Amino acid sequence: MRFYLTTPIYYVNSSPHIGHAYTTIAADVVVRHRRQRGDDTFFLTGVDEHATKVYRVAEQQGLSAQEYVDRIAVVWRELPARLNAAPDFFIRTSDEGHKAFVREFLQRIYDNGDVYEGVYEGLYCVGCEAFKTESELVDGECPEHGPVEHIEEKNYFFRLAAYGERLLALYDERPDFVLPRFRYNEARSFIAGGLQDFSISRAGQPWGIPLPWDEEQVAYVWADALVNYLSALSYARPGEDLVPTFWPAARHLLGKDILRFHCVYWPAMLLSAGYEVPVQLFAHGWLLLDERKISKSLGNVIDPLDLIDVYGSDAVRFWALRSVSFGQDGSASIESLHERYERELGNDLGNLLSRTTAMIAQYRDGQLAAVPSAGGAIGSLGETVGERFDAWDLSGGLEAIWEVVRLLNRHVEQRKPWELAKDDARADELDAVLYELADGLRAVAIALWAFIPETSERILEALGQPADLAWEGVAGGRSIAADGIEPAAPLFPRVDAPTPA
Ligand code: MSP
Repeated sequence: MRFYLTTPIYYVNSSPHIGHAYTTIAADVVVRHRRQRGDDTFFLTGVDEHATKVYRVAEQQGLSAQEYVDRIAVVWRELPARLNAAPDFFIRTSDEGHKAFVREFLQRIYDNGDVYEGVYEGLYCVGCEAFKTESELVDGECPEHGPVEHIEEKNYFFRLAAYGERLLALYDERPDFVLPRFRYNEARSFIAGGLQDFSISRAGQPWGIPLPWDEEQVAYVWADALVNYLSALSYARPGEDLVPTFWPAARHLLGKDILRFHCVYWPAMLLSAGYEVPVQLFAHGWLLLDERKISKSLGNVIDPLDLIDVYGSDAVRFWALRSVSFGQDGSASIESLHERYERELGNDLGNLLSRTTAMIAQYRDGQLAAVPSAGGAIGSLGETVGERFDAWDLSGGLEAIWEVVRLLNRHVEQRKPWELAKDDARADELDAVLYELADGLRAVAIALWAFIPETSERILEALGQPADLAWEGVAGGRSIAADGIEPAAPLFPRVDAPTPA
């Protein structure tokens, strides 16, 4: 199966924080898993540079907008690398390839008769980069970002209202077009409530992509940004057009705050421009840090992203996906990162590997005998986790794997290999227990690879098992005999607890 996954492209008006990292981590986990299942994947992330708020920050810093984005793009490009995420392409909306594609795309909409000229008179929230109606405001202000600006300018409008029926038909035909279900309902009722045309241009802003039919105006940032999902495919591989390969095999991952743009505006724009709509959109919730939303406008002091240097990318990935039921909002704290690092990663998983390898070293001189037994702790883990992934339930998948980790730990306590080792008559039993533990860890490592890739690879190596990550490996009894197994170094060495801010 072809599986093309995108993250939203991030606004570069400031530096990345854990909230952005959350989307990128989740996307990377999904893509890694799909690769293990044998899918032909393409993973896109990048930055959204033509926003008014980006232009303003550049001005404040006394830089040209282009100079500013060139500098900060370097920082954003590091985000996936710091998280050990491996996108196939990193798009910048100031790429020439993107700009050319957007102009063509908008021209198609224009030629199709879906664009008309009008005067926009109303309110704009620069924080949201969105036009606002009075009903969306609280005491005249954006509940998220505060004061809004009054705008009156000549704009070009897209006939969104004309697409209401077609969008409803699409939603009715494809009940899993948007997930989770409550987000589907939210998007559908927004459409059913009646759509209004929206402005796709801005006058008087020198920063952006000039419209092909009126160079005095630039594309409204969302009319430019959404197109990245298609444009990137046209130039990510020089000399190759990946659009026919990966479109419409697209899945968009996004935060709930940008649901309408993705689930309503974007499909309508695609239909108008003559493209098919993506396969699926999944809207996740907010990761709240210490009960407050982590966002640059609120300026939380400590950012768990900075803790990657201390805890490592695997621990941060694990914590982010384990803290919140994927799709819902949830809160997490730096303390909870430390706690999960020690208790779950260090004790549950790390100690299990240390004990297993130490026992194989001590009782069997480093040799693992291949004595696959019936049953075992793994059961149908591969199927269960696969199903969870198909439903985008990443936290559920992780919990299913952790149940097996706990089971393996109980197995050690119950079977007491140290007692079996004292009795020569029970040598076969000891071999069987050691095999079950090593084999269980091997299968768990493969299942965990999408979440914590570095750790998984270390586990397989410590057990003398090949680095074969194919999903079929998540089954009991597949371990091969190995020798030279040594007591493994701690997977998660102790770190000092964070001092409260
Ligand atoms: N530039 C637009 C997206 C354009 S896509 C064509 C944008 N950028 S953003 O930088 O503001 O947000 C990007 C993503 O980060 C969104 O999915 C948003 O939900 C996510 N997050 C930002 N803070 C977040 C949390 N605290 N928690 C979870 N995700 C949040 O919107």
